[in-house]
Amino acid sequence: MGGFSFAQGFVLMVTTTILSVSFSAFGAAEKGQPFPELLAEGPKRIVVGGQTERWRTNLNYTDWALKNGQFYVNDTIVFKYDPPNVTDQYSVYLLPDMFSFQTCNLKRAKMVANVTQGGGEGFEFVLEVCRQTYYFACGEKDHCKNGQMKFSVTPESR
Ligand SMILES: *[C@@H]1O[C@H](CO)[C@@H](O)[C@H](O)[C@H]1NC(C)=O
Ligand SMILES: *[C@@H]1O[C@H](CO)[C@@H](O)[C@H](O)[C@H]1NC(C)=O
Ligand SMILES: *[C@@H]1O[C@H](CO)[C@@H](O)[C@H](O)[C@H]1NC(C)=O
Ligand SMILES: *[C@@H]1O[C@H](CO)[C@@H](O)[C@H](O)[C@H]1NC(C)=O
Repeated sequence: MGGFSFAQGFVLMVTTTILSVSFSAFGAAEKGQPFPELLAEGPKRIVVGGQTERWRTNLNYTDWALKNGQFYVNDTIVFKYDPPNVTDQYSVYLLPDMFSFQTCNLKRAKMVANVTQGGGEGFEFVLEVCRQTYYFACGEKDHCKNGQMKFSVTPESR
């Protein structure tokens, strides 16, 4: 027998496991996703269009919402967009019903984020009401009608 007993081997194995678990949790926290496995069942923070494309013209947000899958009550959707510049600007409006949404009629729409609120960490909107359909659109220029900047979500309870 060498100096390396079963008991020592076991202690070493347990220590290694604890170390690797805490290192991987630390790694996740560093990437801004603290302990994703523990948050898996909680509300999510979802960036509209994704971190790269964000909220802009000519991205199919209906398709984006579809691919995102089910939204749940208390999920936060985040609109991120550039501040106004000489060429363009964006905003976020809530439309009152499906017909306004389909026709991009903004007359009775309510602005929830102005042209500057998409900067920094973005504009956050919490989907608070179960099974309410939220109709979102950009209120600038013809971005809703001709720029595909609209989508709807209906959160379910978890
Ligand atoms: C956007 O995506 C939806 C869902 O995938 C699709 O039905 C629709 O035709 C697309 N619109 C355009 C303009 O490509
Ligand atoms: C959503 O969040 C509110 C406020 O924190 C809480 O009172 C409510 O129970 C939550 N709803 C669900 C379905 O988790
Ligand atoms: C200005 O607007 C254009 C058109 O939307 C966009 O591509 C560009 O990134 C914007 N630039 C800045 C600095 O916001
Ligand atoms: C947009 O809203 C923010 C926060 O309410 C406000 O500080 C800012 O002046 C507004 N900007 C414009 C262009 O209306």
